[in-house]
Amino acid sequence: MNKKHHQKSGLGRRQFLASGLGVAAATMASHHVSATTGSKPSATALPKRRLGSLEVSSIGMGVQNMHRKYTTTVPHRPEMINILRAAFDRGVTFFDCAEAYGPFENERILGEAVEPFRDEVRITSKFGWNIDPETGERGPGLNSRPAHIKKAVEGMLQRLRTDRIDLLYQHRVDPEVPIEDVADAVRDLMDEGKVLHWGLSEPGIQTIRRAHAALPLTAIQNEYSMATRDPEAAVIPLCEELGVGFVPWWPLDCQLLTGSIDANSRFAPGDFRAMTPRFAPENLAHNMQLVDLIKTWSLRKEAAPAQIALAWLLAQKPWIVPIPGTTQMAHMEQNVETASIRLSPSELSELNASLAKIEIQGQRLPDAVLQFSGVEAPPRS
Ligand SMILES: NC(=O)c1ccc[n+]([C@@H]2O[C@H](COP(=O)([O-])OP(=O)(O)OC[C@H]3O[C@@H](n4cnc5c(N)ncnc54)[C@H](OP(=O)(O)O)[C@@H]3O)[C@@H](O)[C@H]2O)c1
Repeated sequence: MNKKHHQKSGLGRRQFLASGLGVAAATMASHHVSATTGSKPSATALPKRRLGSLEVSSIGMGVQNMHRKYTTTVPHRPEMINILRAAFDRGVTFFDCAEAYGPFENERILGEAVEPFRDEVRITSKFGWNIDPETGERGPGLNSRPAHIKKAVEGMLQRLRTDRIDLLYQHRVDPEVPIEDVADAVRDLMDEGKVLHWGLSEPGIQTIRRAHAALPLTAIQNEYSMATRDPEAAVIPLCEELGVGFVPWWPLDCQLLTGSIDANSRFAPGDFRAMTPRFAPENLAHNMQLVDLIKTWSLRKEAAPAQIALAWLLAQKPWIVPIPGTTQMAHMEQNVETASIRLSPSELSELNASLAKIEIQGQRLPDAVLQFSGVEAPPRS
């Protein structure tokens, strides 16, 4: 079905172009019908980027906050649908989700939001946490056993109201399942047309190589931002070597880089940042150096602090696509507008020189979460 899907759309497109309607369609492509009003043409089309062979808007959108997550105000579901549709109107065609978000509820929100224009967007989901595919109940640890992956994907397709997932990630490497077994399960799903591309989140380096050798990867999704530069050491160079795209999660370091947090900010129980060392009072006070630097550049570039953080990411590599998350229409608009902000090579080296003088204090995640990152899958016996 995967091949059929491509053949079907390829043939249809050729016939369409041959019919002479291609030029009109190309014009319409950048002025598609508004998802929110049904009539208003979209103002701009965002530039595109490639993650491996997958073309997406240069700025995507994370959907994790759109159901109660305690790092934002309580999201109002109808407004989340509005924001997702308005993002599409502004050219966003890349939406990031996972079965673990909610669990399940965020996939339902995304599926409902993009249903009217499903074929024009690329949606992701992730499997790998130990989540009961029927109830959504979360057990301890991970589960990437092939039968579990296949069952998880069936549920995703229903909740996302689609027959295919454009990019399916393993959320975390399962230390009990060889990555080649995971690749085989994903290949079966591709052969059925249910999955078009695959990727890994927070994997070990050797696991990236082995996974890519077993079934070419499209993207790696790791935490990466002006505050968390760990992937620069090995993961990003390896992506470059292999021709694999890179998707930074927490591109705004969970709000730190937006200027909306100061040294006096404290986080309620249930807010993930309350147990994340970087946000502990003593570290937060120290880390304001980075926020101050971003604010200086914000004034200089007449841009919002969040836009400086996103523009910095976009300037790193042309195959990096950040997925900022928001529950506020104005923030979504601001994040999307980052695509028009340029950091020249000299500005970038000046900014990087200042950045190099700042040492971020406090681990990026709590130990209990960090233990799942950088894990190598066991060898296939
Ligand atoms: N693979 C993984 O393991 C993993 C882990 C975590 C996240 N993710 C993905 O990454 C996505 C992004 O992560 P995230 O949303 O947690 O963190 P983020 O994008 O770094 O930051 C989101 C926070 O910043 C605020 N914000 C967003 N835009 C803003 C703006 N322009 N001005 C001021 N504040 C702004 C949001 O609050 P408001 O709602 O008030 O705007 C929210 O509190 C997630 O949705 C998810 O898809 C993946």
